[in-house]
Amino acid sequence: MDKIKKIAVVGGAGYIGSFTGHALKDREYEIVIIDNLSSGHKETSNNSRLIEVDVVTQKDVLDELFQKEEFDAVIHFAALIQVKESMENPSLYFENNVLGSLNLIEASAKNKIKAFVFSSTAAVYGNPQVVPITESHSISPTNVYGETKAMVEKILRWYWNIFRFSSVSIRYFNAAGAALDGSIGEDHPKETHLTPILIKSALQGSEMTIFGDDYDTPDGTCIRDYIHVLDLADIHIKALGYLWGTPGCFAFNAGTGKGYSNLEVLKMVEKVSGQNIKYKIGEKRDGDPAQLVADSSNAQKVLGWKPSHSNLETIVKTACLWHKKHPRGFY
Ligand code: UFG
Repeated sequence: MDKIKKIAVVGGAGYIGSFTGHALKDREYEIVIIDNLSSGHKETSNNSRLIEVDVVTQKDVLDELFQKEEFDAVIHFAALIQVKESMENPSLYFENNVLGSLNLIEASAKNKIKAFVFSSTAAVYGNPQVVPITESHSISPTNVYGETKAMVEKILRWYWNIFRFSSVSIRYFNAAGAALDGSIGEDHPKETHLTPILIKSALQGSEMTIFGDDYDTPDGTCIRDYIHVLDLADIHIKALGYLWGTPGCFAFNAGTGKGYSNLEVLKMVEKVSGQNIKYKIGEKRDGDPAQLVADSSNAQKVLGWKPSHSNLETIVKTACLWHKKHPRGFY
């Protein structure tokens, strides 16, 4: 019988990391969560070992840990994720996202880790020249958050060229949704994402703002490609399997190829929750492209991945269930 593979899930107490940890455990991998708990929640650990380490400031601890644990693979989710904050405090983002990743990549390469999967983002593309966006689209981020992810992708490319260190970057479009039973879901310290904001305002009756309605789209509001967090968890596991058989340095889009406007998402939240949402149209948000829609055919062909929970209604239903069951998040 094959030895059970042991995976380090870095940032595994966060939103996408915790879903991936759960999915790995369901598929009988051994997982060790490495997280500094700055925004993650230990309640999501699902009885897996959780080791509190900060990848930015505790490089030596990380090196020792990697020597001791002999991981078969690393999946790296730990990052700051707010576009606006990244433009206000760039050094925080470069330090956390680039230096933290470099420390982790270095510890992984030194310890001969065979597979490294990196949480990247559609923000690496900047303003799309063509929609849907394929992986060969130019890399031209319009904000520091996207730039930090593009820089880490470049570091990974150099580690492949020099050390034959294998990695896959997964460029997420708009992650959303929750567990089918509503047991875990999205709980960020400062929420900026559209679906949780809409759901909170439907459930609590508070007013929300739609940022701009004169974009070049059919209803004037921005269009995004929403991908269920369960499908994102699945693509990481498929990427691991692929890397073990095919060493190299790869990047794949993770989206559905179908976009929804902000008003369409609002309508869906109204339908699912049975509540009217109070909203106003506000100023456009800086750096928001009119449309971000993925061409994910590469991931489907090469990794054999196919989103199966990502229709908008399922995304909104599961997220609503999570918010109803946990009105104050994990606390
Ligand atoms: N929006 C509103 N009101 C809100 C919040 C959001 O109108 O209160 C709008 C935004 O302007 C945008 C859309 O809803 O048009 C989606 O916004 P999100 O903040 O939910 O998501 P983004 O598309 O800005 O960003 C997401 C990820 C980023 C990633 C990006 C890449 O959160 O980390 O996708 O596609 F970089």
